[in-house]
Order: sequence, then structure tokens, then C-alpha cells
Amino acid sequence: MSTKPNRVLNGKRIGVFGKGGCGKSTVAVLLAKALKDTGYDVCLLDADSTNVGISKALGAATDPTPLLDFYGGMVFSGGFVTCPVDDPTPLKGAHISVDELPKTFQETSPEGIHLFVAGKMGDKGPGAGCDGPIAKIARDFRPSYANETPVTLVDYKAGFEDSARGNIISLDWIIVVVDPTSAAIQMAIHMRDMVAQLKAGVSPATAHLEDPAMVDLVNQLYREARVKDVLFVLNRVRDDETERYVWDRLAEHQIEPIGTIHDDPLLSAAWLKGDPIADAVNLNEAGRIVEALEEVAAGMVTRTALEPEAS
Ligand SMILES: Nc1ncnc2c1ncn2[C@@H]1O[C@H](COP(=O)(O)OP(=O)(O)O)[C@@H](O)[C@H]1O
Ligand SMILES: [Mg+2]
Repeated sequence: MSTKPNRVLNGKRIGVFGKGGCGKSTVAVLLAKALKDTGYDVCLLDADSTNVGISKALGAATDPTPLLDFYGGMVFSGGFVTCPVDDPTPLKGAHISVDELPKTFQETSPEGIHLFVAGKMGDKGPGAGCDGPIAKIARDFRPSYANETPVTLVDYKAGFEDSARGNIISLDWIIVVVDPTSAAIQMAIHMRDMVAQLKAGVSPATAHLEDPAMVDLVNQLYREARVKDVLFVLNRVRDDETERYVWDRLAEHQIEPIGTIHDDPLLSAAWLKGDPIADAVNLNEAGRIVEALEEVAAGMVTRTALEPEAS
């Protein structure tokens, strides 16, 4: 029997999105560490089909084998895992006890953060197809533990694609990482609008689906989407002036970030050398973001005005 306290983020899934290189993986690792520090059990699911390196940043001994291999490979190479856009049906066996999942697909960081990798395209050769099957795994994979109800962070690849492929339906919250660029600010506004539209019941794209049962299924999945809110974290902020500038631009669109991770040379050095991100680095800032997340989850505050803007 678990004696752990019933924490407000237990069992929740939080997806980390943002433009290329804005710091999604950095924020995901820092939040995973801060959540663990606070006493949560934590899973980190690497859902970026392209970039590697998160296991090293986490200080894990090895890279876990991608779950794509466990689920039988991509449909484009004769395997079983389909793209959620063509085939919205749930991934078979996605809800799985970790005791049934071979150890090669699981890794744990020194502090006990569980790490999984959805899949990588790097070794799939030219013309391998689209990475939608990896997004399906990210959407549906749900490991269960006998004595833990972990909070799960999903580290997505850059851009909108995976959220447009329906990954937002299986997330409780979306965190958009905003670095100090106008492209990142623009993406924050677009993500906020996308979630607002989802919550307002705007229908997803189904014109490509021939089977009416599949159209019904997609519409049902979106109707039942669990996403509650979209939240914003500033990253790689150098100084107060930059922070104020980004904050003001976002405020013009009724977006109020839940926290800031400052620029830290130790972070870029860790990523360069493949070293673990040290405990001291920005962990206080990540800890404050965890507190803000808990306040949001407890319903103490609503952070984002989920009103789509007229374009
Ligand atoms: N807060 C930060 N301070 C300093 N460098 C950072 C910070 N966040 C990210 N970086 C740098 O930016 C690069 C991209 O970050 P990463 O987290 O891998 O972005 P993403 O996952 O969005 O592609 C890293 O290799 C690192 O050098
Ligand atoms: Mg990344």
C-alpha cells in the first residue's frame, strides 16, 4: 500500500510544447526534477521523434529502447502503429503495467524519475514515412505502477504538429515554452487559440476520413478531451528588460506566464557535453513553477483567458 500523500498533480499528464530550440527538453527535465523534489512520482516521456539527449540530461545510465519497437514498429514499414490522423483508434496495449513492459524500454534517473522514449526517426532511413505513429504512442501510452500514481511530463518535438495530431486530447495541461523571440511569442498565441477552440467545441479535421465511424470517433475523442488549460513558461531569459518585454507582449494577448527559467551557461554546457543537468541549476525557478502548477491544478487560480482572438 502506498503511504504517499495525495498530491494534486498525481496521475496528471502535462505536455511541453514550443518552437524549435526554445528549451522544451530543458524545461521538461527541470520540472521533472522539481516535481520529484517536491515528493511526486514522476514519468518523463520523450516524444520528440528527432532530437536525442534527454536521458543524458537526466543523468540516466542508458537510453531506453523506444516504445515504438515494443508496439511493433510503424505502419509505414509494415508494423502495427498507425498515425492518429489516419487512424484515431486507441493504441492497443497502451495502458500497461510496468511489470509487463520489458526493462529495456524503461530507465530511471538517479533520483528515481522514470524515463520512456516514444520513438525516433533517426535510424529509419530515407522515405520512412511520417512520424505520426510516434505521436500516437505519445498520445496513448499510460504506464501503471503498483505503488505510484506519477505525474507525467511529455516532451514533444518542435512546433504544432503533434498537438494538431490530437495529442492535446490526452493531456491535462499544456505548457508552452517561450524563449525571447517573436516566433515563440507568436506560437504561444497560436497554441492558446488552438486550446481555446478545442474547449469551445470546434470540430477537428475529418475531411480525409472515409469511414463515418472514424469521423464519429475523432469527434468523440475531441469532445472528451481532458485538457484543462494552456500555461506558459519563459525560458532562457537574460535580464529583467528582456523578461519585461516578453511579458508585456504576451499580456497584450491576455497571456500571463506561470514562471521564468533564466539563461544559465551551466545549462548550455550540460547540453553541449552530454552531462546531466546539475541539481542546483535553475531548480528553484522550476520549483516555483511546480508551485504555480499546483495552484492551477487545485483550482486556486485560472491563468489563461481561453478566448480565441479574432484573426
Ligand atoms: N535556460 C537556459 N539557459 C541556457 N541555455 C539554455 C536554456 N534553455 C535551453 N538552453 C540551450 O538551448 C538549447 C536548446 O534547448 P532544448 O531544451 O534542447 O530545446 P528544445 O527541446 O525546445 O529543442 C540547449 O542545447 C541549451 O544549450
Ligand atoms: Mg527537445
